[in-house]
Order: sequence, then C-alpha cells, then structure tokens
Amino acid sequence: MTIRVAINGYGRIGQSVLRALYESPHRERISIVAINELSDLDTIAYLTRYDTTHGRFPLPIAIRDGQSIEIDGDLIKVYRREGLDNLPWAREKIDVVFECTGVYSSRSDAEAHISSGAQRVLFSHPAHADVDKTIVYGVNHTSLEAGDRIVSNASCTTNAIVPVIDALDTCFGIEAGTLTTIHSAMNDQPTIDAYHHTDLRRTRSAMQNMVPVDTALAKGVERLLPSMRGKLSAVAMRVPTVNVSALDMTVSIRGRTDAKMVNEALKEAARTRYEGVLAFTEEPLASSDFNHTLPSGTIDGSQTRVSGDQLVKVLTWFDNEWAFANRMLDVTNFWHALQET
Ligand SMILES: NC(=O)c1ccc[n+]([C@@H]2O[C@H](COP(=O)([O-])OP(=O)(O)OC[C@H]3O[C@@H](n4cnc5c(N)ncnc54)[C@H](OP(=O)(O)O)[C@@H]3O)[C@@H](O)[C@H]2O)c1
Repeated sequence: MTIRVAINGYGRIGQSVLRALYESPHRERISIVAINELSDLDTIAYLTRYDTTHGRFPLPIAIRDGQSIEIDGDLIKVYRREGLDNLPWAREKIDVVFECTGVYSSRSDAEAHISSGAQRVLFSHPAHADVDKTIVYGVNHTSLEAGDRIVSNASCTTNAIVPVIDALDTCFGIEAGTLTTIHSAMNDQPTIDAYHHTDLRRTRSAMQNMVPVDTALAKGVERLLPSMRGKLSAVAMRVPTVNVSALDMTVSIRGRTDAKMVNEALKEAARTRYEGVLAFTEEPLASSDFNHTLPSGTIDGSQTRVSGDQLVKVLTWFDNEWAFANRMLDVTNFWHALQET
C-alpha cells in the first residue's frame, strides 16, 4: 500500500525530501501528495525545478488547476495555511506528515496534525523529549513500533556522528569528548547583516562570517546513546558554504591506540554494522565532493589523529540536506511497514 505523505514547511529540507524521493527506490511505496508552505504556488514550483545546490529537477514539473504541482504524473496539492489548526490531512488521507517548518517541536504540535486527520508525524529535527521515539536510521530504527505516532528523525549532525561514537566506544571505550560541528549556512541566517533573530550572532552575514551558534548536539547524542551521558560537550560553527558539513570530534579513550587502529575499527564499522549509513574514505576530498551523497556520515580517515595514544581525533563529512532527507524516507518506509505486519 502506498504511504501518503504531506510536507509541512517546504524549505531546504522539505524540498530535499521531495527531490530525494524521485531519486529513491522508496518512490515505489511513498507518495508525497500534499505540501503546506507559506509561499505561493509559482515560487514553490520554481524552487522545485531549480536548485542551486542539487541542480535542475530531472523530471518535468507543471502547475495544474492553480492548486497543484504535477511531477512525472503525480499530483501534489499545495496549501498555504499558517498554523496547525485546520490542515486538510483528513481530506488528503495523510499517513505521515513530515513536519519540516523548524517552527514546531512539541508533542502537542504533532497532536494538532493528528487531530487534523494525519495518522503519524515525523519531525525533521530534534523534538521535545516526550515524543514516542527519536530515531537515527541504522542505529535504533528497529526500536520503532507499530503504535508509535510521533517520531523525530533527530538532526543531520546526530545522524552523522552517533554511528562513529558508537563504533569508537565499542572498540576503545570513550571516557570524554568534545564535538565541533562545522555546518554550512542555513536559512535562519541573513545573507548580509540584518535584524533577524533573538540570537545576536545570527544577525550577522552568513556570507562573510564563520558564526558560532548554539547546539544541543551533546544532549541529542545522549538521547541515542545513554552510555555517553555526561561525557560529551559540543560547539557549532556556521560557515559560508551552501551545503555539506563536517564534524570534528576529539575523544579520550580508556585503551591505547594509534591512528591505524582507529581507522581499521571505523572502516570495519562502516563495512558491517553501519553499512549504508556510515562510509569511510582516505581520498584527499573537500566539502563539495560530498554534495548530494547518501551516507549519514563519511569518515575522512586521512584526518584521523591520535595524541599520546589515548586522545583520538576523527573528522566526519556529511551532506546535511541530502543524507538527512534520505533518512526521513528510510525511517518512513521502515515505520510504515510495521503497520502492515
Ligand atoms: N537545512 C539543513 O541542513 C537541515 C538538516 C537537518 C534538519 N534540519 C531541520 O529541518 C527544519 C527545517 O530546516 P530548513 O533548513 O528546511 O529550513 P527552511 O529552509 O527555513 O525551511 C522552512 C520552511 O518552512 C516554512 N514555514 C515556516 N512556518 C511555516 C508554517 N507555519 N506553515 C508552513 N510553512 C512554514 C518556511 O517559510 P518562510 O521561509 O516563509 O518562513 C520555510 O519555507 C529545521 O528544524 C532544521 O533544523 C535542517
């Protein structure tokens, strides 16, 4: 049976999820049938057709009846409704709402979608702790149950780093560590300085600055890996690139090791337990080489360092848009299959 999806908030992640679906085998089971976004239909069609980061859409896109876009024969109804009351999810028979506005994070927000007729809600970001599950695909998606209704897909950063931390902890035992996210610019930053956000740093030009921003990554990791509770801290820096981010992680370990052993352990994790979500490379690559790539994280083995045989540094690249968008589809596909068994 087809899974009927609505996207609430058709920005970078909403658009990436739709594009990803048309390049994914999940298209056989998942259909995006509705979009709710504050912008107008022409602009929505235009930004689906042309994308500075991911290129032109490979299939024809047309506007139909002044209220839908048609992609390769699929009609997607477009709504322009602000707020969560009165969304047309019953009429559209929505199985899953992808909540991608970045504005709503609570269980009661998700329940509003369900009251409007949706069966389930998947947040495209870390939600409040009282949601049914926070899932990092490849790590804990098998903990999903048919009765779960409100789920978070965690963050792009959590998806990238949790498999790496888990692999290192399993092999060497992590005692403590720091995580530095080096993240591409996002739409919550202005192009040049502007009044914009309650966070003063986010008033500053995304094009001209590296901007430290708040991050809840350490808490996000703890939620997925309780063994890391109290052991990690994190900072984040936005940088003037449009997509692809990196995570610079330094951990102290209980055992003793060297860079070769660390790389062997991570390569093995990417080949076995985390196949498909974690990759490993030692090629001399730069960030744009990871644009439009599928793994949640790719370890750059050429940058692995060990100091005094207990302090380990690992660099992980990730496409913060594309990989995450594909994980939204992976989680939905797995979750929905549980309803059918
Ligand atoms: N971008 C990434 O790399 C990334 C990766 C993983 C997770 N995420 C998370 O995903 C969420 C969305 O991020 P994004 O980068 O896609 O942001 P974005 O580009 O700003 O997209 C959000 C979209 O939602 C629309 N919107 C806001 N309020 C709405 C409402 N009430 N109803 C309908 N549409 C509404 C916005 O319209 P206006 O612009 O008109 O307000 C905008 O088009 C955030 O929580 C973010 O942390 C982002």
